[in-house]
Amino acid sequence: MGNVTVIGAQWGDEGKGKLVDWLSNRADVVVRFQGGHNAGHTLVVGDQVYKLSLLPSGVVQGKLSVIGNGVVVDPWHLLEEIAKIGAQGINITPDLLVLADNAALILPLHRDLDQAREKAAVNKIGTTGRGIGPAYEDKVGRRAIRVGDLADREALEAKIDRLLAHHGPLRRGLGLPEFDAAGLLAELGAMAPKILPFARPAWRLLDQAVKSGKRVLFEGAQGALLDVDHGTYPYVTSSNTVAGQAAAGSGLGPKGAGFVLGIVKAYTTRVGEGPFPTELFDDIGQHLGTVGREFGVVTGRPRRCGWFDAVLVRQSVALNGIDGIALTKLDILDGLPTLKICVGYRLGDQTFDYLPAGLKAQSALTPIYEEMEGWSESTAGATSWKDLPANAVKYVRRVEELIGAPAAMVSTSPQRDDTIMVRDPFQD
Ligand code: IMP
Repeated sequence: MGNVTVIGAQWGDEGKGKLVDWLSNRADVVVRFQGGHNAGHTLVVGDQVYKLSLLPSGVVQGKLSVIGNGVVVDPWHLLEEIAKIGAQGINITPDLLVLADNAALILPLHRDLDQAREKAAVNKIGTTGRGIGPAYEDKVGRRAIRVGDLADREALEAKIDRLLAHHGPLRRGLGLPEFDAAGLLAELGAMAPKILPFARPAWRLLDQAVKSGKRVLFEGAQGALLDVDHGTYPYVTSSNTVAGQAAAGSGLGPKGAGFVLGIVKAYTTRVGEGPFPTELFDDIGQHLGTVGREFGVVTGRPRRCGWFDAVLVRQSVALNGIDGIALTKLDILDGLPTLKICVGYRLGDQTFDYLPAGLKAQSALTPIYEEMEGWSESTAGATSWKDLPANAVKYVRRVEELIGAPAAMVSTSPQRDDTIMVRDPFQD
């Protein structure tokens, strides 16, 4: 079918933005299908750096970009991001951006709730504080305000009342002030003319696009281990992040996902709280964080760093139906004399070749490592296998073997063209 779905195979921040930007060259339409502005996608194009959170990365290449129904949309943030990218020379018009009319909105009360809960919680999730979880709760609770509702002021008023009947007691319980319904109605009314020009039945546009032979690139956010079902629950985000969600979150149907490309970092990182079996608390962890510039795009928080966990990624390959991976940030391992790869876990006298579902077990696992010799040469900027030291090639081969998926690409710097291409996912 010629479509490609890009997903993060670990805990997010695998470098999806660069790969999506690179692949959008070959696509006609780029679609976000889950998450919201909790995502942070950094695109480096020459001397320009674009930081996107909600807009599909396709906008940078001028490709038709769709925010699908599976995304939760903060309309204030969307307008800010459009203005920010506009100031960098990219004019986002309704010809370039389509917003699903049935996507649920993130409102200021969702952000309030997210932040107040995190503040009050003993066991914090470490959310981005952007209201993602509460917005999905309201969507599933059938009381969300959706993009299309902005067109009907009367219906909007009734919906706000219904929403506040739910949020009032929650706010009081957390010591938050009463929410100003009239103020929200007025703000949404003022915002509507700026948002509605982008609103369309995105499913229909995608259906027509595919029927006329267009190629769709689905851009996942976060990573498989943050999936609300399959991740390290409850330390997860509130959406399904796995490739299967590309269908439900866009309305294109399950055959539309095409080639599933898992983005895999050559080591492991995570932001926020939760289990992380291969986390390093030593100089090597520090080194990976510093050299890899591991700071969150959205929150600026330092990311936790650790060795590559082949068990997690193998699980991810299965959960997402990954056809091939793009291995990123191999160059960050340059100069480390010995590399470790986690190949299993120990828990008491048991061993596991997968991540057990329980939080207690996940938190108590000890990794079983295999060691490999590192390389001293630089791999940064390599564009072909022959540019890589033998031990770096061995590392990639061992990763492929352990996770059960081939490398379709190896990314060797944030720059668009510093990529070793093995197999073009769009040609598959
Ligand atoms: P939320 O998505 O803001 O509710 O945060 C829930 C968890 O997902 C936290 O651990 C966040 O750090 C993590 N998270 C959310 N978005 C991203 C992302 O784009 N990259 C990495 N972690 C993320």
